[in-house]
Amino acid sequence: MCIRGIGIMNVDKYALNRGSSGVLVDSYSHVDGGMPFIAWSEFLSVGLTEVDEQHEKVVQLINELHDCIRRGGADIVARVLGRIIKSIAFNFTTEEGLMMQHGFIYSSAHLDEHGRFIEKAVDLQNRFYTERADIATEAMLLVDDWLYQHLMVSDKILGRHINAQARLTCPVGVVRMQSVH
Ligand SMILES: [Fe+2]
Repeated sequence: MCIRGIGIMNVDKYALNRGSSGVLVDSYSHVDGGMPFIAWSEFLSVGLTEVDEQHEKVVQLINELHDCIRRGGADIVARVLGRIIKSIAFNFTTEEGLMMQHGFIYSSAHLDEHGRFIEKAVDLQNRFYTERADIATEAMLLVDDWLYQHLMVSDKILGRHINAQARLTCPVGVVRMQSVH
C-alpha cells in the first residue's frame, strides 16, 4: 500500500465516521489551518490533572500524525509515531505509579492494556523500518484504540477510583475549610 493512496483514503473515511462521537473531527479543515482533528475538551478528561496534561500532549501529537498522513511522507509519519510512543510510555509510567500509590484494584488488566499498546506500536515501527510497510492506517487505528478504548474507558475508571479515594480520606475539617474559600 502507498501512503499517498489507499492509506489516506482509509484514514479519511475513518475520520469522517468519527463525527458523531462527541469529539470534534474535521480532517480537511485542519490541513487548511482550521479546527484540529481532535479537539481537547473536558469530555476527554479523566479527572487527574497530571494525567490530563499528558493526554492532551498525546492528542496534539495525534493531530500532528493525522496532518502528516494527509500531507504524505512515510518517514515523517514514522517519526511522529515514535514521539507518540514515547509520550504515551511516559504517561503509562505516571499512571502505573498512581495505581501502586492508590491500591488500584484493576491494575493488572490496566497494565495489560499498556503492554499491548506498546507491543503493537513497536511492531508497527519495526515493520516500517525493516520492510518500509505502509503504517498510516494502522497507526491511526492504534491511537484511536488508545483514545476511545483506553483513555475513555480504563483511564476514566482509574481517575474515578483515585478521586473517590481522595474524597473518602479527606478529613472533614479540610473539606469545611475548602468550602469556606
Ligand atoms: Fe492507562
